[in-house]
Amino acid sequence: MGLTTLTTIREMQAWSASILKEGKTIGFVPTMGYLHEGHASLIRKAKSVCDVVVVSVFVNPTQFAPNEDFTKYPRSIERDTELALTNGVDCVFMPSASEMYPNGTDSVRTTISVNTITEKFEGAFRPTHFAGVALVVTKLFLAVQPTDTFFGRKDYQQTLVIKSLIEDLNFPIRLHVEPTMREKDGLAMSSRNVYLQPQERSSSVIVFRALSSCNNAIANGIRSSAILDSTIQESLNTVENLTIDYAECVLADTLERKAEFVSGDKIVALIAVRLGTVRLIDNEVFVIP
Ligand code: PAF
Repeated sequence: MGLTTLTTIREMQAWSASILKEGKTIGFVPTMGYLHEGHASLIRKAKSVCDVVVVSVFVNPTQFAPNEDFTKYPRSIERDTELALTNGVDCVFMPSASEMYPNGTDSVRTTISVNTITEKFEGAFRPTHFAGVALVVTKLFLAVQPTDTFFGRKDYQQTLVIKSLIEDLNFPIRLHVEPTMREKDGLAMSSRNVYLQPQERSSSVIVFRALSSCNNAIANGIRSSAILDSTIQESLNTVENLTIDYAECVLADTLERKAEFVSGDKIVALIAVRLGTVRLIDNEVFVIP
C-alpha cells in the first residue's frame, strides 16, 4: 500500500471503513505537523501494533488562545509527506480549517470539557487549550475511526485528557502513551524547538537536568514533595532569562498534591518554563521505590 493523502472527512471515513471491513486494525497518530523524530517513533510504534497507520496533520485553531503562536506555528507539507513516506505511513489526513470547522471556529456549538485534571498546570496557563484539544481529537477520532491511537508522553496532561475522553465517551479505541523522544543533550523533541535562538537552545538543556536532579533526589531518599519541587526549581533557576510557569511533583494519575510520597506512589514531575518567547514543557514519571 502506498501513501494515500486525504483532505476531507468523508473520504477519510470511507477509507477507514474499507480497512475495518477487512478486519484490519488502524493505528492513528494525531499531529499538528512539522513532523520530527518524536512523531516518527510514534509512527513506528503504531506500525508494530497495527495493520495500517494514519497520521493526521492539522494545526488546530481552537486549542490556541488569541495571544498564542497559531499563525506562526511551523508548517511544511513537504517535510510531513517525506517523513510519512520514509516511515511507511499508509494514510495522511490533512484537512483544511474549513473542512474541520465549516462555519468557523466561533460557530461551533458543542463543547467537550474534561474536568478536574484540566484545571491545573497547562489548564491554568492556557485556560481554553484542553477544550480545543478535546474537541479536535473527538472530531479526528470520528473521522479516522481508529482502533488504536498513539500519543507522546511529553504532553503528559494531554494524555490524561485523552484517556478521560476515551473512557467517558466510550470510544472503542486503545490508547498507547509512548516515551518522550529527546535530543542527545536531553531536550524533549518538539516542533516548537525551531523557535529557540542559539543561546536559548543551549539553556534549554536545564529542563532535562532539572528532571534528572529530581530523579537523584528521589534516589537519595527524598520523599517530601516540597523539597522535590525546590530541587527542580533551584536547578531551573541556575539559568538566566528563564521564567518558571510551574515545576512540581504530583501524583501521576490525578495530578493531585501529596505532602510526603510513599513507596509505590507513581508521581510525575511537571515542568513548564519560558525561555525568551519560547515556552517549553517536559515531565518525567517516577515510581517511588
Ligand atoms: O499534541 C498535539 O500535537 C495536538 O494537541 C493534537 C493532539 C494533535 C491535537 O491537535
